[in-house]
Amino acid sequence: DRSIKIAPSILSADFANFGQEIRAIEAEGADWVHVDVMDGHFVPNLTFGPAAVKAFRPHVKTVMDVHLMIAPVDPYIDAYADAGADVLTAHVEAGPHIHRTLQAIRGAGMKAGVALNPGTPAEAVAHLLDLTDLICVMTVNPGFGGQKFIDMTAKIRSLREMIGDRPVHIEIDGGVDPSTAPLVVEAGADVLVAGSAVFRGGSVDAPQVYGENIRKI
Ligand code: DX5
Ligand code: ZN
Repeated sequence: DRSIKIAPSILSADFANFGQEIRAIEAEGADWVHVDVMDGHFVPNLTFGPAAVKAFRPHVKTVMDVHLMIAPVDPYIDAYADAGADVLTAHVEAGPHIHRTLQAIRGAGMKAGVALNPGTPAEAVAHLLDLTDLICVMTVNPGFGGQKFIDMTAKIRSLREMIGDRPVHIEIDGGVDPSTAPLVVEAGADVLVAGSAVFRGGSVDAPQVYGENIRKI
């Protein structure tokens, strides 16, 4: 399904109100819910782990898209399966055995995603196209919301060509807003993560702002 999906990142939500925030963005039109897991080691920021993600699960009626910015990944795969992740994405830079990681993610019953930092070329996933359901192209260096978009359209185009007719999503993460979204969609992306551009100006008491922001993207 190549329709364009908007996946708000709850990294920009009120951390004291995740359940309400998730319900609000879904009611306002989110297609997926993007969950950013950071370990303070692979990236210079910390968010939450599998127990919190498991607590989000009953609030998510769409797709829970879990982006792991952690190293190592393999020891935690079963915990995220148990937490109820639908898509589990690992970074190609996070360890030496990404094949094993993707196989283990699928083996645990989840869709397997692979993410690429801005400095990593498309070729890094050329041998993984039959092992993955989603390629996440980072358009910021991961770790924080609200950073400036880095143009990766050439990489997106190469990936779309490499993918051919395989059923692999291209997800864009970082700095997606109404001005950058058309560029990445035109290049071949179909899942757009957006944190600050969705949550900006809204709250659980003014959720219609989330809906307006989603529609603008
Ligand atoms: C960045 C995270 C993103 C982030 C996007 O490390 O992976 O998902 O929340 O935030 P914005 O849309 O504000 O760039
Ligand atoms: Zn993310």
